[in-house]
Amino acid sequence: MTSAVTQPTGNVNPPAAADAGTEPGDESPDESGRPFRFYDNRQKYLTFVTTCDEKWRVAERASRELVRLRPQPPALRVFDAGIGDGTVLAHLMRAMHREYPTLPFYVVGKEISLEDVRLTLEKLPDRFVEHPQLVVVITNMHYAEAPVLNPNTAAKQEKMVMETVALSGTSSHSFGEQLRDLDDFLAEHWRVAPSEKTGNPLYVTPTALVLHREDQRFALDAVLPRKDEPKADYDLVVASQPWRSRSSADFKVKRILDPLSRSLRSHGLLLGIQSVGDDPGMEIIQGIWPGEQPFPVNRHDLLKELHSSLGDDVRNFDLMALPADEACLRYSMHTLPNEIGSSIGTSTLFAAWNAAIYVAQIEDERVERAVQEGSYFDVTAKVLQDNGGLWFNDETFVVRKH
Ligand SMILES: C[S@@+](CC[C@H](N)C(=O)[O-])C[C@H]1O[C@@H](n2cnc3c(N)ncnc32)[C@H](O)[C@@H]1O
Repeated sequence: MTSAVTQPTGNVNPPAAADAGTEPGDESPDESGRPFRFYDNRQKYLTFVTTCDEKWRVAERASRELVRLRPQPPALRVFDAGIGDGTVLAHLMRAMHREYPTLPFYVVGKEISLEDVRLTLEKLPDRFVEHPQLVVVITNMHYAEAPVLNPNTAAKQEKMVMETVALSGTSSHSFGEQLRDLDDFLAEHWRVAPSEKTGNPLYVTPTALVLHREDQRFALDAVLPRKDEPKADYDLVVASQPWRSRSSADFKVKRILDPLSRSLRSHGLLLGIQSVGDDPGMEIIQGIWPGEQPFPVNRHDLLKELHSSLGDDVRNFDLMALPADEACLRYSMHTLPNEIGSSIGTSTLFAAWNAAIYVAQIEDERVERAVQEGSYFDVTAKVLQDNGGLWFNDETFVVRKH
């Protein structure tokens, strides 16, 4: 029922089942309890983000949806379901400014990793300069809680911190300084503790950090979130790579897609993006682990599961798998001209290997065994030479609320 999250007041949290004590995206658990942790893979993530153009392509794809939105006062409302290092969001906010230069923006992002929050804050100063009527909220809360900025138990609501920071001045340098000054606050409020049930890191203090320009406080009054008035009515939700690929459709939908779809406003849309394979990246993976299937749940499976999970409310939504060519989003590893010749530099080979194992979400122990075995560089080099480079396929889908 969408009204459950669009009412302006009252208990607006999704059912407790949506939060069984784990964080579906950031720590990427799956129900089989595989030993895979996002934190263990930080180095791989950052290398991947800087050597491949996926995050920019995702932002560009999301930007294409902006013209279809029908924002209503007081603001254009966007939710990023896992900010990561902030690259997607920073690009998207620039595109939002181009499309809607005079509308106030309310941008909420969910991120549990302290390092990623820091990387995101670094990308914000120029956004506050170019688009003064901007409210950015960063929260460590779970998927079912973050869109409404409200934890889903009374005990956690009691502990919740909503910290509003009014940035003074007008320059990006001064905004940058003030955002860096938040370091102590972040270190204290973005602490995690292992779940007793699963060992996955969970937030200690549910927190929402609200940022806006001090000189826009009056104009943004109706846009600023209020702790006692939780609501989620987003024009656009971006769910880019929000899960462990081997988790079941049921898990992904219950924990992520269902609550996110219900947080859309009328005419709002959710853009989902996940890896799909059938690309040179998978050739590397299959060359080392023949028969490996990292992406067992495609967009059709997800939308079928979402259809049943939404129950009677499904009539309020269009679930759009999109035709194959429209759904496909191809991205590449950056290479220099003439780099893929008879001998390929070690750093390029390493970047390619890293991207392949990151995208296929291969556990560290298996990667270590393959590295010890030793053929991984040869396999990677051959795939790069055969294809003249390295690219990957993502697939996209759209959920639109009527
Ligand atoms: C930090 S979140 C994603 C954050 C952000 N939405 C983004 O797109 O960068 C990290 C999770 O996404 C997965 N992930 C990120 N990019 C991926 C990709 N291209 N292919 C597969 N998994 C990816 C990671 O394994 C992890 O489970």
